[in-house]
Amino acid sequence: MANIILIGFMGAGKTTFGKWLARQKAMDFLDTDEMIETEQNMSINKIFEKKGEAYFRELETALLERLLWEKLDNVVLSAGGGLVMREQNRELAARLGEVVYLKASVDTLCSRLTGDTARPLLAGGSMREKIEGLMEKRESVYEAAAARCIDTDGLSFEDILKKMEECAQ
Ligand code: S3P
Repeated sequence: MANIILIGFMGAGKTTFGKWLARQKAMDFLDTDEMIETEQNMSINKIFEKKGEAYFRELETALLERLLWEKLDNVVLSAGGGLVMREQNRELAARLGEVVYLKASVDTLCSRLTGDTARPLLAGGSMREKIEGLMEKRESVYEAAAARCIDTDGLSFEDILKKMEECAQ
């Protein structure tokens, strides 16, 4: 069960780096948000709007349970930014594979996320304040949930991979 589970804030690069990483390592790539959207036949925005965040969080847990039951293997899994906020999900993620936290600064996240309309938790008001508020609650949880924490600011994908491999030794 050699999987890599990428966690971190929205805009940290879990999906873009994750796809690249999967190619480098001849692994498959999966994204929890994408899987949930496909299963529900609804965008994340719509799920939040119609069913609420609590329902979405239930879907994330159910998905992790299913992936574990299906014996997910050789996959880079990009986890939605709030997924590890649930203790149960942190346990499931750790059972699924090596949990890697892709850390990025508020400045980096802000520049990547400004103009984004696909993330309901960032809609309306000041993007920076929203990111800072959520980060304050999440940073320590991300760190505690991860077996490896990579500071990605200013790094190329090659550099991030190098750091991941250094940490693993
Ligand atoms: C969320 C992050 C999003 C998505 C949803 C909620 C969060 O995923 O799951 O909008 O709570 O941080 P990404 O981190 O892939 O953007």
